[in-house]
Amino acid sequence: MTFTDLIPAARAAEWNTAARFTLDARTRIDARPGTEHVARWLRGTVGAATGLPLADGDSGPHRIVLSVSPGVAEELGAEGYRLAVTGGEPAVTIEGGGAAGVFWGAQTLRQLLGPEAFRRAPLTQDRDWHLPVGTLQDRPRFGWRGLMLDVARHFMPKDGVLRYLDLLAAHKLNVFHFHLTDDQGWRVEIKRHPRLTEVGSWRSRTKWGHRASGLWDEKPHGGYYTQDDIREIVAYAAERHITVVPEIDVPGHSQAAIAAYPELGNTDVIDTSSLTVWDTWGINPNVLAPTDNTLRFYEDVFEELLALFPSTFIHIGGDECLKDQWRESPAAQALMRQRGLADENELQSWFIRHFDTWLTARGRRLIGWDEILEGGLAPGAAVSSWRGYAGGIAAARAGHDVVMCPEQQVYLDHRQAAGEDEPMPIGYVRTLEDVYRFEPVPAQLTEDEAAHVLGTQANVWTEVMQDSSRVDYQVFPRLAAFAEVAWSALPAPADRDFAGFEQRMDRHYRRLDALGVAYRPPGGPLPWQRRPGPDGTSAGLGRPIEGTPPNV
Ligand code: ACM
Repeated sequence: MTFTDLIPAARAAEWNTAARFTLDARTRIDARPGTEHVARWLRGTVGAATGLPLADGDSGPHRIVLSVSPGVAEELGAEGYRLAVTGGEPAVTIEGGGAAGVFWGAQTLRQLLGPEAFRRAPLTQDRDWHLPVGTLQDRPRFGWRGLMLDVARHFMPKDGVLRYLDLLAAHKLNVFHFHLTDDQGWRVEIKRHPRLTEVGSWRSRTKWGHRASGLWDEKPHGGYYTQDDIREIVAYAAERHITVVPEIDVPGHSQAAIAAYPELGNTDVIDTSSLTVWDTWGINPNVLAPTDNTLRFYEDVFEELLALFPSTFIHIGGDECLKDQWRESPAAQALMRQRGLADENELQSWFIRHFDTWLTARGRRLIGWDEILEGGLAPGAAVSSWRGYAGGIAAARAGHDVVMCPEQQVYLDHRQAAGEDEPMPIGYVRTLEDVYRFEPVPAQLTEDEAAHVLGTQANVWTEVMQDSSRVDYQVFPRLAAFAEVAWSALPAPADRDFAGFEQRMDRHYRRLDALGVAYRPPGGPLPWQRRPGPDGTSAGLGRPIEGTPPNV
């Protein structure tokens, strides 16, 4: 393995092709203050894969020294690192600008050891583990390098979430946007409002494939994370320098909450007590009633959330809020008049601004989907630009921070090829190469405006992903290309060396194999990865490419 095989690619490296350092039973980890968790991670991963003890030790020539260095911080930032393999004394040093940089350097070290370093136990006791001798300097392009996972449409049990955090870390991604609530399920325990999970975390059946398919699976689906589960997930992420940004989607995408507490809905428009957790896909008309009671209820929810999630940013959704019920509701119309609001867009904005003020008063910052720009936005709020670049450009020009995640580029639920074989093909065709050529900073922005682009994230909506194998298939290999976009200093899209990336992917597929990732093979889906319908056929499950709407 050499320094040029890394994914994501490093900034600068020099190595000596002839010289190697061999890890063996004498190899010690010398963890300086603030890096003990990185030593723990190395022992738990590389130690397990190699069968080497990698014991603590602060002297001798066989050391891997981990340290935080102010010099590296100045030159490369807190997430930057310098890795040197000398084979001398010490044999290896990883100096990070901060502990995060040391951790990303440790990830690089594992890649340099070869694909078998990604296994959980050694295949054989009598093999050598080499590192190439050389030096490497690296730092990320963006501070926000994220993956959003929708656990509402299909629940991912806690083990799967922890595994995804490991997969993010292996790709030097540092934000996990946790989409915890939607019309089809509420996935986080809220002590003050237990029916959110008692009722809201289960649905009686699930639509098969595209929302127009006409087929349901006729099986209950559900699950939720207890507050202890969430604490564990957050701590596990933190140890890997990943921030978990929770999302509670308001005021739309709320049918599961309304099914649990009918008074949250527009009771003067429909009989909300007859609503159940939604069993199909699309944009749902049942939105929250814009009352003071609803605000108090969600303040309770967010209060519990703030105690669980230390993230500065808290995501409040804000997307795809149909306003029909507000138009029809005498109560909502009266509230609009009372609050001096001209139309329903202003009512949505009023709702969002309330939580913006509320979060700001508690030292946090609101982030929401780009619809929150409609009707005005409070100054500190940030935007996830999903409907193309336009929302992000408008937000950056208005001085708001932005995370770029346009659905045309980085929605990983969308199909990876045009063939009929893709399992439940929905959305745009977005190939590995398309993702590799994705540019998060639009050319139209000035330098000052571009500084508002915090970074980028790929989004995974799970309507047609019933289990983690299906999630793996959609996410990989495209997440590897995305990670390089988010981390590495790539040239302009047209100048990117996709052929070179594909060559490096040969190695990376071996790493993913060792990790047990059920990625889409370069040659297309394997027979059992093709469209499996409830009757074993693919009839009606997908959606033709012609006329495909943005949402499933
Ligand atoms: C979204 O895809 N509705 C944010």
